[in-house]
Amino acid sequence: MKILIVNGGPRKGNTWLLTEKAKEMLKALDPAILFREVQLSQLGLPFCTGCSSCFRKGPGTCPHHEAIQPVMDLLEECDGVIFSVPCYQGHLPGILKNLTDHMAFLLHRPRYFTKKALVISTTGGIGARGATKALAAVLSGWGFNRCYQLPVAALSWNAYRPTEKDLGKTHAVTERFYRDLRSGKMHVPGFGVLIPFNLFQAMCAGNSGGEYPTEDNRFWPQYLGMSYAPGIPLTPARKLFGRLIFLLGKKLAKSMVVTYRK
Ligand SMILES: Cc1cc2nc3c(=O)[nH]c(=O)nc-3n(C[C@H](O)[C@H](O)[C@H](O)COP(=O)(O)O)c2cc1C
Repeated sequence: MKILIVNGGPRKGNTWLLTEKAKEMLKALDPAILFREVQLSQLGLPFCTGCSSCFRKGPGTCPHHEAIQPVMDLLEECDGVIFSVPCYQGHLPGILKNLTDHMAFLLHRPRYFTKKALVISTTGGIGARGATKALAAVLSGWGFNRCYQLPVAALSWNAYRPTEKDLGKTHAVTERFYRDLRSGKMHVPGFGVLIPFNLFQAMCAGNSGGEYPTEDNRFWPQYLGMSYAPGIPLTPARKLFGRLIFLLGKKLAKSMVVTYRK
């Protein structure tokens, strides 16, 4: 089993300390786990310029492609990912947000359907849940099958010593993440995830070979007629919901023209 750990904070602080505890717990559960690590602060990733080239022409045309591609390769290779994200102003730290901005095209063309994540956040007092929830929403949009959340109030600026209660909670969530990964079980996705999957697919089906063909036009035909990615279970209600969103998308595609600078 391969687990990637992404330090989504600007330093190795309170959150990294708790993340290392989770890593030790995983090692105790399964010494054979292969860990890889990304320290975002060492990537030298400039801010996303908002050029939208990744959406239209593919991530290979991103001006920061050389910095971002190795991270995407590591994500591709792993079974699970741990994101370590301190809570700054009730939200994600800028350095992590910058990474997700560079990968926002995945909301249009999701992929990590078999992967699972654990998001760990510490906060001074309040807001860690907001940070983990925000990232979990992004990850499910990228296709992640399940996202476990571990928000913890550290009550500390730079000198966090996890309490027995914090360690117990960390152990419980980490073990659930590990057992789920090991099971290989794929979970039924939520209704919210089915909306972009079917909407974008339908809008491309209704617009293929249009005046402004984009990467989305090339991507979606592989899923034509599917309400979600193959191999991921769907209930009849979700299949029906996906179909209805698809029909709505086809209707919208007739009247909605998205303009692009060529
Ligand atoms: C820029 C910044 C913003 C912060 N915002 C909050 C906040 O909104 N709520 C809070 O309770 N603590 C806040 N804190 C405290 C941190 O969340 C807390 O110390 C956390 O454990 C820091 O994790 P780190 O050491 O991994 O960076 C903030 C700290 C910094 C540096």
